[in-house]
Amino acid sequence: MLEVCDLAVNYRNRWAIDGISFRLQPGHIAGLFGPNGAGKSTLIKGILGLVPIAKGAVSYDSQPLKRQLKKVAYVPQRNKIDWDYPVTVEKVVMMGRIPATGWFKQPSRNSREIVERALSRVGMTQFRQHQIRDLSGGQQQRVFLARAIAQEADLFFFDEPFNNIDYRTEEIIFEVFQELKQQQKTLLVISHDLGKTIANYDQLLLLNQRLIAVGERKRVLTNQNIQQTYGKLVSC
Ligand SMILES: Nc1ncnc2c1ncn2[C@@H]1O[C@H](COP(=O)(O)OP(=O)(O)O)[C@@H](O)[C@H]1O
Ligand SMILES: [Mg+2]
Repeated sequence: MLEVCDLAVNYRNRWAIDGISFRLQPGHIAGLFGPNGAGKSTLIKGILGLVPIAKGAVSYDSQPLKRQLKKVAYVPQRNKIDWDYPVTVEKVVMMGRIPATGWFKQPSRNSREIVERALSRVGMTQFRQHQIRDLSGGQQQRVFLARAIAQEADLFFFDEPFNNIDYRTEEIIFEVFQELKQQQKTLLVISHDLGKTIANYDQLLLLNQRLIAVGERKRVLTNQNIQQTYGKLVSC
């Protein structure tokens, strides 16, 4: 189980997130929602130790998560990635194997097979030699999903994977999420769609600097919670 306890991140004397506590169970998909600037990306980065935390603690199976980062796959927001860097699709997915094999070793036959299966799972096999920068948004997102699959992690963090993608890619992403769930993995996914895709999540978190609500859909998606999170009513 992932346990986040009283987490806070402070950027230049301003609290981006504060007092965040929740737990995620294996075999569950959690959806993290909130307006732009709510601190969603910061929460993931704070959990992973990618930004300094001002207070709080994060543990996985009762041990500090920062000592177990090999078990974590993280797919950042796509618009935060430098796309000019020349690298092929296959190499990006192979990077998912680095925590298992180390930086300077040739990939093993096992790793090559895992990468092949991951590329096939997201329907990107025929693009393996393409440059990542030449792909559409949806194709790029599939490649990063394949990299996360290839990592064989226990904990998965996806930052806005559904932005600017095609419908088929969205379907593939949710299919893979369900497969990871069946394998008892733990997933935290940032999304903006409080509409038709909401049924995919076992647990919802509403964030606006503070955690407004966490738990089952029916309990979380009240008008009051949505108003507190977004400052206005949205239909859902
Ligand atoms: N590296 C940074 N330095 C200073 N402020 C930041 C930094 N990253 C994010 N922020 C600020 O922290 C707040 C939360 O940002 P972010 O976590 O990116 O929100 P979200 O992902 O919900 O849109 C915003 O006000 C943003 O401007
Ligand atoms: Mg963000």
